[in-house]
Amino acid sequence: MRRLLIVSLALGLLAATAQAAPPGDAAAGERLHAANCTGCHDTGVYTRKDRRIGSLEALNLQFETCAHMTKKTFTPSEVRDMTKFLNDRFYHFK
Ligand code: HEC
Repeated sequence: MRRLLIVSLALGLLAATAQAAPPGDAAAGERLHAANCTGCHDTGVYTRKDRRIGSLEALNLQFETCAHMTKKTFTPSEVRDMTKFLNDRFYHFK
């Protein structure tokens, strides 16, 4: 009985730490971006005066289009990391 209690406490703690993790890893995103996204454009498209992306939703949509063109499939966490990198570094949407 006591062992069961300890196990469930430990599991609860694990779940709590997982939730506290930040949503995305910008450093991993930067590496993924460098490896996959600079074949057609450099980061200048994100900072040019007439850049087209004006919201986080638009960024997600553009990401889907561009990721599709890379002909690679990214996992949800890779997508999150790259989006976080783009937003932290260039777009700064809330
Ligand atoms: C096959 C070519 C290609 C690849 C590979 C590619 N893109 Fe793009 N990307 C484009 C084109 C074309 C545009 C539109 C440029 C324009 O509007 O002048 C664009 C525009 C963008 C924009 C919008 C910039 C703005 O604010 O105006 C974002 C964000 C973007 N790409 C992200 C990515 C990411 C992230 C990846 C890697 C997953 C990627 N792209 C890979 C072709 C590509």
